[in-house]
Amino acid sequence: MDRIKELLTFLREKNDFISGDYIAGKIGISRTAIWKYINQIEQAGYEIAKLKGKGYRLIQGPDRLYSWEIDRFLDTGVIGRKVIYKENVDSTNLLAFRLALGGEPEGTCVVAESQNVGKGRLGRVWFSPERKNLYLSVILRPHIHPSRVYPITFLSSLAIYDTIKALGMEPTLKWPNDVLIQGRKVSGTLLELSTEAEMIRFVIVGIGLNINMTEEEMGDEIQRKATSLLMETKKIYERASVCGRLLTNLEKYYTIFTEKSELEICSIWEKRAAIKGKYLEIVQMGTHYKGICEGIGTDGAILLNENGTTKKIIAGDVNF
Ligand code: BTN
Repeated sequence: MDRIKELLTFLREKNDFISGDYIAGKIGISRTAIWKYINQIEQAGYEIAKLKGKGYRLIQGPDRLYSWEIDRFLDTGVIGRKVIYKENVDSTNLLAFRLALGGEPEGTCVVAESQNVGKGRLGRVWFSPERKNLYLSVILRPHIHPSRVYPITFLSSLAIYDTIKALGMEPTLKWPNDVLIQGRKVSGTLLELSTEAEMIRFVIVGIGLNINMTEEEMGDEIQRKATSLLMETKKIYERASVCGRLLTNLEKYYTIFTEKSELEICSIWEKRAAIKGKYLEIVQMGTHYKGICEGIGTDGAILLNENGTTKKIIAGDVNF
């Protein structure tokens, strides 16, 4: 991976033909080795022009979530330092869970071009067509009691929010884990954890973000409720860049979580979601609650004032 990344950096920086001899000398490997890596790069879907006496030129790259592509946009110390890339997987959360059980360290990410059984919240399915969106799972190993884990969902939503905002859109946050644009869901986070003796062994932060999916590519049912970055702006996005920036933002908020407190995360989320004082209708397992939101508990629950009585609602769907 390092050699491929190095070679692609040379090709990108030159933006013209560059000789195999020159690169070989700079990296300190043979011309034959360069030729071998160029073949591997082509097999990965990059278009390379080759001219005798002039060398190689990068014409265009594929829009893939290769680790070396994500790495170009990463500014982190831990999260995303190791990226496991899959063309297709059952669910990135399931794979990350298996890897974490096997001892994969904190910060390792699993990305996939498509998922067969993408998992949504409350047992729902996450629509995961190939090479359109981002399906990402990050392994975290915070040293905390399981009761303090919930704000990790909020920090993930905040990272997604900042990433979308930096692209010039106006996202909003919806309890507990949704990021919307113009009232339609563009992203969600699914947290899964493994605990042991009152401690967290690991947390899997699973993020689905709709990027280049068109309205026609969505099923009828989700069409009315969901959107993508492409649908909002009519622009195609380089998914590796969105992913790298998202992971960078994720580490920023995770650092606040571990070095300051989960309270800080809850309070940033609460402000950004502008949820306090709002009239909400929440459906929890068939029961409807209506009232004024008094805020968010550190356990992630919504505090809802129903006719003068405060109720704590742990899970459910919010209707504004
Ligand atoms: C939600 O219902 O809002 C949460 C959706 C989370 C979907 C992502 S896609 C990547 C990761 N792998 C999964 O199977 N689910 C999460």
